[in-house]
Amino acid sequence: MCGIFSYCNYLVEKDRKSICEILCNGLSRMEYRGYDSAGIGIDGDKPGEIILFKEVGKVASLRKKIASSDVDTSKTFVSQCSIAHTRWATHGPPSAVNCHPLRSDPKSDFIVVHNGIVTNATSLRLVLQKRGYKFESETDTEAVAILTKYVWDSQPDKRITFTELVKTVLKELEGSFAFVFKSTHYPNEIVVARRGSPLLIGVKTEKKLKVDFVDVEFAGERADGKPDVLSPQSPTGLLAPPTGSKILRTQSRAFMSEDGLPQPIEFFIASDASAIVEHTKRVLYLEDDDIAHIAAGEFHIHRLRRKEDGAQTPSQIASTRSIETLEIELAEIMKGKFDHFMQKEIYEQPESVVNTMRGRVNFDNHSITLGGLRAYLPIIRRGRRIVFIGCGTSYHSCIATRAIFEELTEIPVSVELASDFLDRKTPIFRDDICVFLSQSGETADTILSLRYCLERGALCIGVVNTVGSTISRETHCGVHINAGPEIGVASTKAYTSQYIVLLMMAIQLSEDRISLTERRQQIIDGLHALPGQLKRVLEADKTLQQLASNVLANSRSLLILGRGLQYATCLEGALKIKEISYMHSEGILAGELKHGPLALIDENMPVIIIMTRDSLYPKVQSAFAQITARKAQPIIICNDEDDSVPRDAKAIRVPSTVDCLQGILNIVPLQLLSYHLAIKNGFDVDFPRNLAKSVTTE
Ligand code: F6R
Repeated sequence: MCGIFSYCNYLVEKDRKSICEILCNGLSRMEYRGYDSAGIGIDGDKPGEIILFKEVGKVASLRKKIASSDVDTSKTFVSQCSIAHTRWATHGPPSAVNCHPLRSDPKSDFIVVHNGIVTNATSLRLVLQKRGYKFESETDTEAVAILTKYVWDSQPDKRITFTELVKTVLKELEGSFAFVFKSTHYPNEIVVARRGSPLLIGVKTEKKLKVDFVDVEFAGERADGKPDVLSPQSPTGLLAPPTGSKILRTQSRAFMSEDGLPQPIEFFIASDASAIVEHTKRVLYLEDDDIAHIAAGEFHIHRLRRKEDGAQTPSQIASTRSIETLEIELAEIMKGKFDHFMQKEIYEQPESVVNTMRGRVNFDNHSITLGGLRAYLPIIRRGRRIVFIGCGTSYHSCIATRAIFEELTEIPVSVELASDFLDRKTPIFRDDICVFLSQSGETADTILSLRYCLERGALCIGVVNTVGSTISRETHCGVHINAGPEIGVASTKAYTSQYIVLLMMAIQLSEDRISLTERRQQIIDGLHALPGQLKRVLEADKTLQQLASNVLANSRSLLILGRGLQYATCLEGALKIKEISYMHSEGILAGELKHGPLALIDENMPVIIIMTRDSLYPKVQSAFAQITARKAQPIIICNDEDDSVPRDAKAIRVPSTVDCLQGILNIVPLQLLSYHLAIKNGFDVDFPRNLAKSVTTE
């Protein structure tokens, strides 16, 4: 949901062309987060001047607009701060005027880029309009830019610091956000803030650093230990701008060089590490309620809340933040020999599942150790029930593994869609074990569910792909799925890796049950064979391409039928087909067929039926008979060696494995089919319309 990028250099000479290039490259890397429009705000030729470039569509269009403009691209800057944004529209349709950065006025006194939703923007807009401020866009973000100007205009002596100004503004906002502010009144400075949306700051220096961390300054906490006068919390802030808190900064340190001299330094601020890794691997993740100020080669973090305000995670109340090292490689976020990220990620699965298991599964003695959970195993085993919570594909991985989890742990498992879980205000108790599934670790509904469960005292476990994400930081413990960066908007390899992590959790939890030893061994042997079997499934790619082109491309709808362990495969396959090929598709539980969906079946309705062998095979066979009796000519997903499937039937054959692992092999043909359907119909696979990778709004 929108990508934010910002670049600041200090004592590093850059011409305007390179600065625009850095900004556009950063946006391109995060385009999967939104691609309705893109824009940048950079310094003009005269001091205190800001130039905005905005364009509807993808970053490529913005690049063209910049290239065809008459700005002097050779002008150099030894120090500057610039901001950029790629948008996924929430308030107001994609248009040049709704494109970020949003400005406070035609002279761009303040410009802002934003990811998230300000929920009280309408009331702020009304109050500001009454005071004579003019709005030009339909966005919630513009209210923030104009509110900033209002607070500035209300300062008689204009001595307020940029940080205090932004702090005053943030106190008035409701909703979720990540912001970067830039202003003509504070040249070469930016202020960055987050609450609910991710932001990280990359740091690049040539010199060795003596201090490699940043002190965090808490609101109202003075370095001399004396009580501070806190800014009054004003509900609108418009009538009585706060006076500003008196924080002393004598102890603040940030990136001091060994010789103590000013050092050339560059900062890269982004919603996602993929936009930073080509410049530096040294990053600092901001926490909710952090406000970071970058100026003159220094970087300071302030907090909106005090330590004693409570309800903060341990890292939020730490008084220093260290620089971490990113573990992703640039090659991982490039397409390489593939045409699309989605295609690359489908093909990566034989390898990504190995990475998920690496160091955790011992195939010789048939044991599994998930280090992140070890200390919590007794609590989990004592749990009254386990609640899996996620959205979309992550939710489907929970459905896929629920039965084996219950079988191995003998603890009841419920599976919840995060939004519905919150809507129902689901009762949660201290002895509940809540497991949060998320590829990005930043999905708003899942994060809100996590905080809801934390407040009720449940043990909260994260299963995420993105290291350093909000869910991985705010849960008590967890497991990274280690699938590598997933950039295609349609989730593929994250699904198979989430599936495996949940299975591994169930196996580890059941290790004290002797009666299940054989079952565990059977599954672990199945996991061992999985990478090779996935490679064999991928060999069917050409056949699936033909099926997409010759049989399905012109259909308006596609039903996917299965039951038991394969119900999740039906749901996930249908989701893939909907989201990238825009074809209506429904996953149907075969047992429910006669309770309604059978009415849809005739000779013109394409149906895929999942008939791989497991204990429910006879029941799926009867569903097959019911639909063929209504003249349907289904495409059958079945096991290689299954002779009962007529040789002349349209069949997609997959290797057979243990029942609870079969879904990992069965989903791959559906991923490939959805990919080829989208390509055949000329759709942009990595950028499906109206969607974004990381859904950071409710
Ligand atoms: C579908 C897809 C989405 C995500 C969902 C949750 O292909 O990608 O349905 O699975 O938005 O996202 P995460 O897993 O990041 O919480």
